[in-house]
This record gives sequence, structure tokens and C-alpha cells, in this order.
Amino acid sequence: MGLRILYFLFTFLLLLLSRSSCCDLNSTTATKHRHRWVEPTVARTVVVDAAGSGDFLSVQKAVDSIPENNTIRVVIQIKPGSYIEKVVVPVTKPYVTFQGAGRDVTSIEWHDRAGDRGPDGQQLRTYNTASVTVLANYFAARNISFKNTAPAPLPGMEGWQAAAFRISGDKAYFSGCGFYGAQDTLCDDAGRHYFKDCYIEGSIDFVFGNGRSMYKDCELHSIANQFGSIAAQDRNSACERTGFAFVNCRVTGTGKLYVGRAMGQYSRIVFAYTYFDDVIAPGGWDDWDHTSNKNKTVFFGLYKCWGPGAGAVHGVPWARELDFATARPFLVKSFVNGRHWLNPSDA
Ligand SMILES: *[C@@H]1O[C@H](CO)[C@@H](O)[C@H](O)[C@H]1NC(C)=O
Ligand SMILES: *[C@@H]1O[C@H](CO)[C@@H](O)[C@H](O)[C@H]1NC(C)=O
Ligand SMILES: *[C@@H]1O[C@H](CO)[C@@H](O)[C@H](O)[C@H]1NC(C)=O
Ligand SMILES: *[C@@H]1O[C@H](CO)[C@@H](O)[C@H](O)[C@H]1NC(C)=O
Repeated sequence: MGLRILYFLFTFLLLLLSRSSCCDLNSTTATKHRHRWVEPTVARTVVVDAAGSGDFLSVQKAVDSIPENNTIRVVIQIKPGSYIEKVVVPVTKPYVTFQGAGRDVTSIEWHDRAGDRGPDGQQLRTYNTASVTVLANYFAARNISFKNTAPAPLPGMEGWQAAAFRISGDKAYFSGCGFYGAQDTLCDDAGRHYFKDCYIEGSIDFVFGNGRSMYKDCELHSIANQFGSIAAQDRNSACERTGFAFVNCRVTGTGKLYVGRAMGQYSRIVFAYTYFDDVIAPGGWDDWDHTSNKNKTVFFGLYKCWGPGAGAVHGVPWARELDFATARPFLVKSFVNGRHWLNPSDA
């Protein structure tokens, strides 16, 4: 008995120590916890139907109906239809699920661009353009599409960033979702996220931000007509554990395409077991500004990718083929501490 208590005290101290040193955070290896994922015992479903047979006509009205600081999962079931509205899930409303009827039949869409003026007369800027913005933790979306329908910018046009979705909450799960836009489609802003079987379409930096995210079995589809880019990751110091891991994905569409760009000085992007169509720009990767030597501090990795574009993604010396030991943390759901918050049957 005494030994057991000592053991727990010891583990606790170790945990405290590992938390206090910032640059332990440089590693992607999660601290060893004993928690397991626990099935939420209570859930409530509300129905949104534009045709009138549900509880609400709009998605935002359904979100508004959820009490602040709610502690049970609320499934918002969204019937087939295009819901033309801008939606925000505020930080005070965790455990919300958007359940569509299929990503080809249920969508939420809006059309704001960064250069458009908001209600206060100021330009919106990219982060406020998203058709759907989620600030809360424990969000989930299944079988639904999110679109920004602003027209794609021509090369050189300013202020046309137009996000379809922004996720700023922690522990968010997406499955069978579609994200449609052109420049800056999916703002993977902050927190741990898992995307499974999703379709993401865009032209420039169409997955961007400083999230710590795994994209598993997703299609990344470019609609760029000259040059485009997939991922712009914004990790800003070696101490941050953020990064994008694309595992078993497919890269398709039109190019020429950079697969990753160094938005932050310590940008971290890995593609593993991913198929690349013949759409990759020479070099394959972009250092964003050519002045801050990001090519010395970024972590751009590849592991066992394939397809006609797979040669071109090895086009610069600062994006390297990883060995198994280095790749492994990016191949498993523990990259996002998934064991603690993902349903085992979901990931
Ligand atoms: C972070 O990790 C990288 C790669 O393993 C290493 O080169 C770098 O020195 C580490 N940074 C710190 C501050 O520990
Ligand atoms: C929700 O929680 C916050 C923080 O604890 C608190 O300030 C707020 O009053 C709560 N709201 C409600 C409606 O209980
Ligand atoms: C989502 O759609 C897929 C494919 O149509 C279907 O197999 C799955 O059951 C759906 N899942 C949910 C939770 O609706
Ligand atoms: C790294 O970037 C600097 C500044 O743009 C450039 O001069 C240098 O050639 C690059 N190094 C490599 C290996 O690409």
C-alpha cells in the first residue's frame, strides 16, 4: 500500500517536472497518462431543417439554444440542404456535434473575404471570414460540408482570403466532412484536431494555422490555375508541439502546387504514405519569404509517399525523407493525444 502511494507521488513529481521545462515540449511524445477515453453517458439531439420539420430553421439558432457551460454532448442533426448563414460556436459551448446527412447533401455556406468590411466598418481580415467558426472545445462534425463561396482570386489579387471553416477549440474531431474554398479554405488555428476521411479543396494555403492536427485518409484537392499551395503551418518556436501530419492522404487537382509553406519560423509539416498526383511545383516546398532563413528551422518531412508527384516533393534539401523512428510520432493518433479524447472506433 505504502509503495503504491510512493509510486503515485513519484509519477506526479515527474509530471510536474516535465511540465516546467518548456523545451521538453519540443518532443512530440506525449506524457504517459493512465486515462482512457470514456464514453459520454448523456447526449441530446436537436434537429435543424430548412424545410421546417425540425426544431430549428438555422444552425445558428440551434447553437444559440444550447445553454452556456453545457456538460453533455449536444448533437445538432442537420437535414439535407444548403444552409446559407455564418455560424459561430462560442467558447462557452463545448461538446457540440454537427451531424449532416452526407457531405454532398448538407452544407453550410457563406461568402466573406478578408478585404470585406465588417459591421464596424473595419476590414474583416482572414480569421474572421470563416463561414463556420468554432471556438469551443470538444467539437465534432460528421458528414457535412463547409463552404466559402466567394469567387477564387486571380493571381496577385489582395484581400481575397476567404475561409470556409476555422477551428480554434481544442480536441475537435471531423469525419466525412468537406471543406470548400479557394485561398485559405481551412483555418486550422489552434488546438488538437483529428480529421478523418475529409475532402479539402482550395488554391493557396488551403490548410493553414498553428493547430496540432492529424489528417488521416483525406483528399487535398487543388483548384489553383497557376501556382498554389496546400499547407501553411504557423509553429513559431521549437517549444511548440504544433504541426500538421497528413497520413495516407491523396493530393489531386491542378497545379503547380507547393505542398507546404513555412508560415511560422518553426513550421512543422509531415506527409506520410500520401499519394501525389503530377501537380507539384519545382522544389515542392516554399520558405514563405526568402529572408528569415526558415529553411534552417522548419521541420518538413516525408515518409513513404508515392504517385507521379512523389519525386517532386523531395525537391529541396530542407524537406527530407524521414526514417521510421523520426516519422513514427507523426503516424499515430498520439500526435494529438488521441487516446485520451477520441473514441477508439473513430480513429
Ligand atoms: C528541438 O528539436 C529539434 C529536432 O529534434 C532539435 O534540433 C532542436 O535542438 C530542439 N530544440 C530545443 C530548443 O531543444
Ligand atoms: C459559465 O462559466 C463561466 C466561467 O466559469 C462563468 O463566468 C459564467 O457565468 C458561466 N455562465 C453561466 C450561464 O452559468
Ligand atoms: C457518414 O456517411 C458515411 C458514408 O455515407 C456512412 O457510412 C456513415 O454511417 C455516416 N456516419 C454518420 C455518423 O452519419
Ligand atoms: C535557405 O534560404 C536562404 C535564404 O533565402 C538561401 O540563401 C539558401 O540558399 C537556402 N538554402 C537551401 C539549402 O535551400
